[in-house]
Amino acid sequence: MDNIKSYVQQHKDRFINELIELLKIPSVSADTAYCQDVIDTAAAVKISLEKAGCDTVEICETAGYPIVYGEKIIDPSLPTVLVYGHYDVQPPDPIELWTSPPFEPIIKKTEIHPDGAIFARGACDDKGQMYMHVKAFEYMIQSNTLPCNVKFMIEGEEEVGSVNLKIFVENNVEKLKNDVILISDTGMISNQQPSITTGLRGLSYVEVEVTGPNRDLHSGLYGGAVANPINILAKMIASLHDENNQITIPGFYDNVEELSLEERAEMAKAPFNLNNYKKALDLNDVYGESGYVTNERNSIRPTLDVNGIWGGYTGEGAKTVIASKAFAKISMRLVPNQEWEHITELFTNHFTSIAPAGVTVKVKPHHGGQGYVTPIDSIGYKAANMAYTETFGVPAIPVRSGGSIPIVALFEKELKSKTILMGFGLDSDAIHSPNEHFGIFNYLKGIETIPLFYKYFVELSK
Ligand code: BES
Ligand code: MN
Ligand code: MN
Repeated sequence: MDNIKSYVQQHKDRFINELIELLKIPSVSADTAYCQDVIDTAAAVKISLEKAGCDTVEICETAGYPIVYGEKIIDPSLPTVLVYGHYDVQPPDPIELWTSPPFEPIIKKTEIHPDGAIFARGACDDKGQMYMHVKAFEYMIQSNTLPCNVKFMIEGEEEVGSVNLKIFVENNVEKLKNDVILISDTGMISNQQPSITTGLRGLSYVEVEVTGPNRDLHSGLYGGAVANPINILAKMIASLHDENNQITIPGFYDNVEELSLEERAEMAKAPFNLNNYKKALDLNDVYGESGYVTNERNSIRPTLDVNGIWGGYTGEGAKTVIASKAFAKISMRLVPNQEWEHITELFTNHFTSIAPAGVTVKVKPHHGGQGYVTPIDSIGYKAANMAYTETFGVPAIPVRSGGSIPIVALFEKELKSKTILMGFGLDSDAIHSPNEHFGIFNYLKGIETIPLFYKYFVELSK
């Protein structure tokens, strides 16, 4: 057990089996049918932290699902790393598109993962990545190499907006005090080219409802004479982008940070192959805002997307009907300096103002959060880069991601510390999609890399 590499080799089967057990519990936070499973997962995470070597582990109840908080304080005068992760997962639907059941993890080889990957909902997002931290911690305890204090905060509501975690953080600033926050809930470029996520987009998520007549109508008797809420909703949504694929909501771009040409040139250095990108998605072309390339469109530019749309008759065969109501769920990905509550307000005002006479429109805001960018000259970033360089043999590239972890901006505001996003997933791991998986290589490499982060972070903090 002399170093982390041999420790991982010696214990890898157990590490994989423990993760598989965790993945079997369907901790879907969005669907109340899984309520007990989510609670059971919190209990399982608690046990794993205790076994790994935490001094204290608590289940912190909230108005929603509990937060598992554990710590190991070896010397209050040493730095403290706060590890954040989430044990809840996305719903598995559409379930029929899974090649194996989402909560019966199995290992399969893929082109990108010749050593095999664990297929299950949450394998990569975020149970697998969260559990790497538990196992890296176990190693540091077993080998007596833990160089600083550690706090773990593993929540169960990330996939539904972290509303109760926000309250928990606001109320526990002293308890959560730390020198750096470490999260593995993002991705990297490839297994040959690690990257460190230096930015996350913010989010505003809303639901809209368009109401026409007070009941569903015969589309022959009334068709042509009353507004069809589905037609109107489609038209209203279509009007939210112009011919350049820019968003038409007045004021939407007011605070958008424009990157300099130098910064954009720097971004363009990250390896990216448009043909492979299209091929992986079976697309004949990409699509997006004029004037920006794919890697800019999905990271430094804000977006507006319909996530779901429904209304009227969608069953078998045909039914001639004008629906009374039509609905859509819409997300806007935001970039730094766009204030999410302000954007929600701009959307609401604009969307209600474009409703024609003959319908009424309601906008219901869901959750949201601020974007995040982190500098690459911090001790935390340097320590992460040194760790990746050692385990992958090449330095990591800084990359701004298009995804969101809204709580990260709140951490900075409340806890006054920077977050380092050491992700080990790949875009092809299909998070939130059917057949989500996490490479065995990635899982074990993560466990191997994390203790080096601790080591270098503490060394650079001296
Ligand atoms: N882990 C993801 C976010 C992510 C993935 C960021 C890959 C960067 C790279 C997280 O679990 C997630 O899915 N977040 C949601 C937002 C949340 C408020 C539901 C998202 O980005 O849609
Ligand atoms: Mn996640
Ligand atoms: Mn997610």
